[in-house]
Amino acid sequence: MTPPSELLLELSGVCKHFGGLTALSEVSLNIRRGEIYGLIGPNGAGKTTLFNVITGLYQMDQGTFKFGGNTYVRTKPHQLAQAGIARTFQNIRLFANMSVLENIMVGRHVRTRTGIWGALSRNSSARMEEHTIAERARELLHYVGIQRPTNTLAKNLSYGEQRRLEIARALATDPQMLALDEPAAGMNATETESLKALLQSIRSEGITVLLIEHDVKLIMGLCDRVAVLDYGKKIAEGTPVEVRRNPAVISAYLGVESA
Ligand SMILES: Nc1ncnc2c1ncn2[C@@H]1O[C@H](COP(=O)(O)OP(=O)(O)OP(=O)(O)O)[C@@H](O)[C@H]1O
Ligand SMILES: [Mg+2]
Repeated sequence: MTPPSELLLELSGVCKHFGGLTALSEVSLNIRRGEIYGLIGPNGAGKTTLFNVITGLYQMDQGTFKFGGNTYVRTKPHQLAQAGIARTFQNIRLFANMSVLENIMVGRHVRTRTGIWGALSRNSSARMEEHTIAERARELLHYVGIQRPTNTLAKNLSYGEQRRLEIARALATDPQMLALDEPAAGMNATETESLKALLQSIRSEGITVLLIEHDVKLIMGLCDRVAVLDYGKKIAEGTPVEVRRNPAVISAYLGVESA
C-alpha cells in the first residue's frame, strides 16, 4: 500500500488574475495521496478558480503545478483528466436530455482506446468496448446509490441524484483524485449524510478527495485537512480542529458561533 504521506498534488505560488482582480495570490498547498482535503472560505474567495486551475480550465499566471510527481505547464482539461484528475461542477453540468447511463458513459471515454469518435463510428471493437463501458456505468450508478431505470433522463432526477450522477461520471474516468465543487449544495440533511458515506467509500477505494463546501459540519466531519481561502490567499491550513480554532478563520469565515 502507498504510504499515506506521499504527495499527490503540489501547488506552489499559484497566482491568477482577471483583469485588475487578483483571484488567487501565491497559493501553495500539498495534497497527500488518499486524504480527504477540504477547501473553504467566503463567497468569491477563489475556491472555484483554484479548481479551474487544477483541472486545466484556467491557466495560472504564475506558480508551479505537480501531480503524481510530474510537473504540468499550460495543460488542457483532457490532459489532466487522463493524468487522473476528475471533477464535478458548482453548477451541475449534466446532459439533461441524455439518460443517466449515457451521462456516465461519456465520462468513461477519457480512458477508452477508441474514444468518443470510435464509439460513434461503431466498428466491432468499438462496439465491444461500448458494452464494457455500459456495464461499468451500471455498476457506478449502483455505487453512487441512484436506483432508477438506466434510461431515465438526467433532467428527471432529483437535485441530490443529479449531484451523485455527476460524481458517477467523474468516477468513470478512473481518477486518482476527485475534486468536488460544493457537492452538498441544495441537499437536505439525509442526502448530505449519504453523500458523506459515499465520499468515505470513494476514499477507501484509494481515491484522493478534494472538496469545496460551505457545509462546515460536513467539512469538519469528513476532512483530514482543511485549507481556508480568503480574498485569493490561503489564510490557514490544518486539521478541522486546528482550523476551527484559528482566529483568522473565525473572523474571515466561520464566525464565533462555529468556533
Ligand atoms: N472567469 C472569470 N472572469 C472574471 N472574474 C472571475 C472569473 N472567475 C472568477 N472570477 C472572480 O474571481 C473571484 C473568485 O471567484 P471564485 O468563483 O473562485 O470564488 P469562490 O470561492 O468559488 O466563491 P463561491 O463560494 O461563491 O463559489 C471572484 O471575485 C469572481 O468574481
Ligand atoms: Mg465557487
